[in-house]
Amino acid sequence: MTTPHTTGELCLGRTLPGENPASGSRSVHPTTKDTRLTLMSIPTHAPALTVPRHGGSDVLEVREEPVPQPGPGQVLVKVAAVGVNFIDVYQREGVYPMKLPFVPCSEGAGEVVAVGPDLPEDATFAVGDRVAWASFRGSGRAYVAVPATVLVPVPDGLDLDVAAASLLQGMTAHYLVHSTRPIEKEDVALVHAAAGGVGQLLVQMITVMGGSVVATAGSPEKLEIARSRGAAQTINYRDHTPESLAAAVREAAGRGVDVVYDGVGKDTFDASLASLRPRGMVVLFGGSSGQVPPFDLQRLNSAGSVYVTRPSLGHYVATREEMLWRAESVLGDLAAGRLELEVGGTYPLADAARAYDDLEGRRTTGKLLLVP
Ligand SMILES: NC(=O)c1ccc[n+]([C@@H]2O[C@H](COP(=O)([O-])OP(=O)(O)OC[C@H]3O[C@@H](n4cnc5c(N)ncnc54)[C@H](OP(=O)(O)O)[C@@H]3O)[C@@H](O)[C@H]2O)c1
Repeated sequence: MTTPHTTGELCLGRTLPGENPASGSRSVHPTTKDTRLTLMSIPTHAPALTVPRHGGSDVLEVREEPVPQPGPGQVLVKVAAVGVNFIDVYQREGVYPMKLPFVPCSEGAGEVVAVGPDLPEDATFAVGDRVAWASFRGSGRAYVAVPATVLVPVPDGLDLDVAAASLLQGMTAHYLVHSTRPIEKEDVALVHAAAGGVGQLLVQMITVMGGSVVATAGSPEKLEIARSRGAAQTINYRDHTPESLAAAVREAAGRGVDVVYDGVGKDTFDASLASLRPRGMVVLFGGSSGQVPPFDLQRLNSAGSVYVTRPSLGHYVATREEMLWRAESVLGDLAAGRLELEVGGTYPLADAARAYDDLEGRRTTGKLLLVP
């Protein structure tokens, strides 16, 4: 994080030299102690993706909205890229009930263009800083006023689009393998949808930690991607029933697996349970195929005294310190080339519906981005 070269006082809303209302933009002089004065041009209005009502991707609209001033504890960021995530789908569809209308997306990266007053001491940012975030709903817009406490600095040398693509899924993979069910040397882990955004990162992290991976995916091309990320064994789960998938996993692993990281949910959960060794654990972290219906706890007994947990990122970035630990680990590994990430598609904000259709339609690998 760089030392702030603004005092936090913002000149938005006053007539300033260089302001040109006719062009719909305004120039802002951040008050500065630094002689390297930065002159930022911030438009009065900018596009924002909007969900006016719950439904499919066809409900998405792009609306022009006033660019906000950053309030106390906030900074204004010119957004370079927005991360596309399944949680955006759950919120748009109303699986997670939302107050309507709302601006979707919670992940992005960009450059700080204005700083509000009273930034907390452990989250000071300055105009020009490159930042990323994973958990601010309302990020699907060209300019976002965001609490400084959710931001992390982007290391030099790491592209903003890679930062936007990596933080939510990277911190998710990080907490799953370091905290929810820490990987131990010689663990065998089953990773579903291993060519997806979270999946590719999970395979790499587990392998680096000394575990081995049995990976599933839905096409030969996706299985090849999983192998290229380090998976020891791969299975096309579209060729299987739940029973035959569990048998194929046990054959590939030579035994029941120690842990399953399952973000597919409804279609894979039964096979996940049946693939475990006694006292193994299913980490059910999502439902790209749908949510797992209510189930009888007695099944945990008959499956071998196994465990199931259903974690969320929010509970694993409970403090700013914990978030920075995970974020700096992920971004640092990416910057150093120890972790690789595939941006599988970049779409203009106006084409957001196509991005979500591709994600929900299983046509993607890696991570998708929206560019405002
Ligand atoms: N709990 C958390 O903290 C947390 C945080 C982030 C993400 N997640 C979850 O992690 C999961 C993966 O997210 P992601 O963004 O990385 O997505 P992704 O894995 O890149 O995309 C989803 C993949 O799921 C597979 N899939 C299987 N059945 C499907 C179906 N019926 N419809 C759609 N996809 C299906 C597809 O791969 P194949 O073609 O190979 O089958 C598809 O490409 C999601 O469930 C998400 O909600 C959870």
